[in-house]
Amino acid sequence: MSFLNGLPLVCETPQEWASLALEQLDEVLRDHAWCEFKAASAGLGMIARFPDHDFLSRPMIALAQEELLHFRQVTDLLRERGVALGAPKPDEYVRRLRTVVCAKGQGLGDVGDHLILNAFVEARSCERFRVLAAALDGDDSDERDLARFYQRLAEAESRHWETFRDLAMEVCAPDQVRRRIEEVAHLEADLIAQHPIEARMH
Ligand SMILES: [Fe+2]
Ligand SMILES: [Fe+2]
Repeated sequence: MSFLNGLPLVCETPQEWASLALEQLDEVLRDHAWCEFKAASAGLGMIARFPDHDFLSRPMIALAQEELLHFRQVTDLLRERGVALGAPKPDEYVRRLRTVVCAKGQGLGDVGDHLILNAFVEARSCERFRVLAAALDGDDSDERDLARFYQRLAEAESRHWETFRDLAMEVCAPDQVRRRIEEVAHLEADLIAQHPIEARMH
């Protein structure tokens, strides 16, 4: 199976998404800010949900701190652009992915499934940041700054997916984790294929 540039993904974001994101960049930035907020909450949520798994707490606190920093950076960016943050919208991609990954009895158990779910959300976010960085990297100097910002965030999200994978390998056998990642990669690709293309991060 061939994965995308170090990510556990088997399909690329459709080309139309990048064009739409550039056309409605403020909308995407707004949604992106909330994604960072949700990523921080998801990290903290893992600690509350699995209190008996003490090995999660330090890496999840570190992750939440980094995601909160991203949240601050994106909200600063919105302020500079004179765009209001607005209210968060439900994330249909994450909801569907959760249904697929955390279906009872098919995965790695409760902790493992939640780690894999987060690993995939990080991986797809990383891929979208890379796509956006490439699309923004043109003649305009403000856009080039934004491209560099997205490149840096993509590097962080790439580390985050690995953090979740490595934690999954602490609770489950590594081979089992690798097999599950391959399965979920295909399920995630089906989900992307059916998912509407919107001016949102996912
Ligand atoms: Fe982030
Ligand atoms: Fe992240």
